[in-house]
Amino acid sequence: MTTRRDLVLYELYVRAFRDANGDGHGDLRGVIEKLDHVASLGVDILWLLPISPSPLRDDGYDVADFRAVHPDYGNLDDLQALLDAAHARGLKVITDLVLNHTSDDHPWFQASRRREDGKDDWYVWTDDPTRYAGTRIIFTDSETSNWTFDPVRGQYYWHRFFGHQPDLNYDHPDVRAEMLDTVRYWLELGVDGFRLDAIPYLFEREGTNSENLPETHAFLKEVRAAIDRIAPDAFVLGEVNQWPVDTLPYFGDGHDEMGYLFHFPVMPRLYRALAEGHAESIRWILERTPAPPEGGRWVVFLRNHDELTLEMVTEEERALMYAAYAPERRMRLNVGIRRRLAPLLGFDRRKLEVMHGLLMTLPGTPILYYGDEIGMGDDVTLPDRHGVRTPMAWTDAPGVGFTDHPAPYQPPVADGPGGYPSANVAAQERDPNSLLHWVRRLVTTRRTLPALAPGGRFAVLDAGDPRVLAVHHVGEGAHVVAVHNLADARASVRLRAPIEGPWRCVWSDEATRHDGALDRGSLTLDLPPYGYAWWTTG
Ligand code: BGC
Repeated sequence: MTTRRDLVLYELYVRAFRDANGDGHGDLRGVIEKLDHVASLGVDILWLLPISPSPLRDDGYDVADFRAVHPDYGNLDDLQALLDAAHARGLKVITDLVLNHTSDDHPWFQASRRREDGKDDWYVWTDDPTRYAGTRIIFTDSETSNWTFDPVRGQYYWHRFFGHQPDLNYDHPDVRAEMLDTVRYWLELGVDGFRLDAIPYLFEREGTNSENLPETHAFLKEVRAAIDRIAPDAFVLGEVNQWPVDTLPYFGDGHDEMGYLFHFPVMPRLYRALAEGHAESIRWILERTPAPPEGGRWVVFLRNHDELTLEMVTEEERALMYAAYAPERRMRLNVGIRRRLAPLLGFDRRKLEVMHGLLMTLPGTPILYYGDEIGMGDDVTLPDRHGVRTPMAWTDAPGVGFTDHPAPYQPPVADGPGGYPSANVAAQERDPNSLLHWVRRLVTTRRTLPALAPGGRFAVLDAGDPRVLAVHHVGEGAHVVAVHNLADARASVRLRAPIEGPWRCVWSDEATRHDGALDRGSLTLDLPPYGYAWWTTG
């Protein structure tokens, strides 16, 4: 029997990672130069934010051509070279694919607004901007309506995101065909899968909230079938920012829609639990998280390229999160917090460790966000989400090893504990106790634990102390028990092990010594503030 193990993803913004040609913008050749760093983290899959031509008013989610590479990032040969170099290291590469909308620069929109080229109805046009009134606005800080008037056509067009991002009209068969061709195009180039952006919003229907419609699921099944015909092993990850019960249908039967889906609501509750020093909110959401059908898998993360979304929390939780993590108004965006992981956690190494440990032991496939492995800071003086998309700090040289250009697309973060003088890869490589080395050890340890692989079973255990989250995974004939103390106070764990053992401790904070402690089927252990330990059988 082959032992299965779980994958770990690494999300990176090409523009921010490494500028190989010295023009101030990161590029695909730059990613190739830094693949050894990515591989050294022990991750399996690189997720590239959108790489297609775009005016970059939404950092590439505003696509102007679905079948090419943004000239700042390189060309299709560079992409091929990246795929080859990644594959040679055993890494897969998935790209973002934006199905829902385009940029208003896209030639399809330009033709549609002029009623040319048979594209009159490729977008959602109306004379009546009260249509679909039941549909919420997502970018609440910048948009007041999902309709924008186009003076060229003399009609309103529909958009779920920025006004410069018109939604495609999925009721039009040519749009559906074109987007299925786009899916095939990238797979034939050799990409290993997709992160499918904003999939709940493809269709609109009066009298609904225009989310999760049956028509949307039907089209996503077509997308999956098109993928499977070319690349049955492709990694297909859908972005659905909803409650688990509403997200679950996007797995389909486990094989005919998304293979992977982000679990959004668990994420803010990790931060809430940490702020409260109490594990209950994590337990609460995990108990409301259905197991995906066979073939499906949740995907979990601490941070990403967007604001830390607070859409899937209560009013009360939102207030608590803002007070704890975004005390200044400028740290907030839409319904969320536009900060990076390390600043959110006050650059407290103990909190960084306990949160990473939780991430790695939740029931799901984890994602790391570039820069978080070195505790990189953010820049809240930059607009929108730019402050969490700054250049990766490789060294403390001018240009931070990101670029030789005197004026990079954005300044690197310079100040504070997350500034490049201390938070850079080279410095952390030299220090065996750095966060970077610690993250590597964490991911490497996780890779040795087949109980965490997809298809296993998961349960929250009674830890005997409300400060502590205790979880149990079983799969591939092995068990894992992990305890994490969310509080800035010692915790007394009293745990009944799910089986007698023998148990082996594989991971713990510095201070916790407990080898064999689970052996007799129960555990009594004092955990230091933010302390943690994992055990495994087999
Ligand atoms: C992406 C955002 C983007 C939006 C519109 C999201 O789900 O993660 O970065 O702005 O889609 O495309």
